[in-house]
Amino acid sequence: MKQMGYTPDDWAGRPVIAILNTWSDINPCHAHFKQRVEDVKRGIFQAGGFPIELPALSLSEVFVKPTTMLYRNMLAMEVEELLRCHPVDGAVLMGGCDKTTPGLLMGATSAGLPAIFLPAGPMLRGNWKGKVLGSGSDAWKYWDERRAGKTTEAEWGEVEGGIARSHGTCMTMGTASTMTAIAEAIGMSLPGASSIPAADAGHIRMCCESGRRIVDMVWEDLTPVRIQTRASFENAIAVAMAMGCSTNAIIHVIAMARRAGCDIGLDDFEAASRKVPVIANIRPNGDTYLMEDFYYAGGLPALMNRVCDRLHLNALSVTGRTLAENIAGAEVYNDDVIRTVDNALYREGALAVLKGNLAPDGCVMKPSACESRFFKHSGPALVFDDYPSMKKATDDEDLDVSPDHVLVLRNAGPLGGPGMPEWGMLPIPRKLVRQGVRDMLRLSDARMSGTSYGACVLHVAPESFVGGPLALVHTGDTISVDIPARTIHLDVSEAELGRRKAAWKRPVSKFERGYGWIFSRHIGQANEGCDFDFLRSDFGAPVGEPDIF
Ligand code: FES
Repeated sequence: MKQMGYTPDDWAGRPVIAILNTWSDINPCHAHFKQRVEDVKRGIFQAGGFPIELPALSLSEVFVKPTTMLYRNMLAMEVEELLRCHPVDGAVLMGGCDKTTPGLLMGATSAGLPAIFLPAGPMLRGNWKGKVLGSGSDAWKYWDERRAGKTTEAEWGEVEGGIARSHGTCMTMGTASTMTAIAEAIGMSLPGASSIPAADAGHIRMCCESGRRIVDMVWEDLTPVRIQTRASFENAIAVAMAMGCSTNAIIHVIAMARRAGCDIGLDDFEAASRKVPVIANIRPNGDTYLMEDFYYAGGLPALMNRVCDRLHLNALSVTGRTLAENIAGAEVYNDDVIRTVDNALYREGALAVLKGNLAPDGCVMKPSACESRFFKHSGPALVFDDYPSMKKATDDEDLDVSPDHVLVLRNAGPLGGPGMPEWGMLPIPRKLVRQGVRDMLRLSDARMSGTSYGACVLHVAPESFVGGPLALVHTGDTISVDIPARTIHLDVSEAELGRRKAAWKRPVSKFERGYGWIFSRHIGQANEGCDFDFLRSDFGAPVGEPDIF
């Protein structure tokens, strides 16, 4: 320590706080973390702690190939071991871009030290020619306009320039906004932290306050296991529903909860979906507002106050206080952005879990972001075995397809993708786009971005790569979806499915060495949260802190 210019006055008798910083030069969502980490340190020093910044895998959603989901568990492993192998007493977790939030929290939970999650904050509203642009959602929308020949190349360039006007995470109700809200609802962030725009001075103050608070959390021995209970995860699921969350929430919350020893599953989401209305009017659910508007309307504490009768108010948080104390007096300042329960955006159904012979272990749909005519739909399957052939076919003007077809993509799951890429919003065939078609029933074992929308059935489990029924669908088979009944059905006889199964051959593994080799052998299915089996909280004896000799 002296080699770095410190003396015992700097560290002796003080909590040593690791700051896990997921900044990188290629992560625009975390670009401000380079400065914000100094504000965290300021808070730690003020409270009598000693900060140590430790870089962690950055997982930039827009740049990491083939998908950040392949590496979420790698970040979780890195976090767990960083906290175990360094001489630290607590941690500030700096993340926000999609998989960084669950990755940081899963690792810190397994490490067991007091930890506080610091969200990167959403970026400012997008703007183009006076129109408000939302991350992802408007990219998909204007890309379809481009494919239909209604937007020029120059205009597309302007959309690119206007859609991301500051550092920070996607400002629609995508996976980033969903997961940071969930982190706060579980109790792992300061109240209101997840709603503050990244470019707001309030974000700087929140960073400093998080630094101050973690020092006290160490003295209080306020570990994740004391905060993360079944009640707190049920709170998180209820809040996710009220927010109109990304479908990715299901996978991450199941994985996070199981790290904390809580057996959360698809049924918990389905139950919450039935009783918690969507009250956050944020794109892609509504068509007007973004996270910046949500912050001005009162942010997450105000939303939680609106649905407080559906929450466990005695759940503990990083403040050391209960949820009831944290949200007391939180007001809504704009009833159109944060609706009342009686004037909800959708009465129920932010997410729907479907089951049937095509998905025995479940699949997921987001009714709040699709046209209601697809709530009950039957149509002939048009099947693609991989993404490149699907892309080529949907661009073919002569493709034999109608608006009633069900587009099916397989080999896009945890093993087949690999990593369940966000391919689930299959492109509408160009021929139909030109006719004005903007939504179709689509089905896959992939995920989709929280900023995506449409009648997309996702996370089909078991995935096709391991021989799930999705592997047995033929083009022309009839597929039926009934959202009110929560069913999905492939209209093929059991005998015929048996014949197809007998003829099915398992594809060759995607990896024969390296991290992918570990991934291939230990990844769980979507309904299990896609964690590695050997990282589960009940796998083997707990790992202790290393001895120092
Ligand atoms: Fe980072 Fe969307 S790309 S949050």
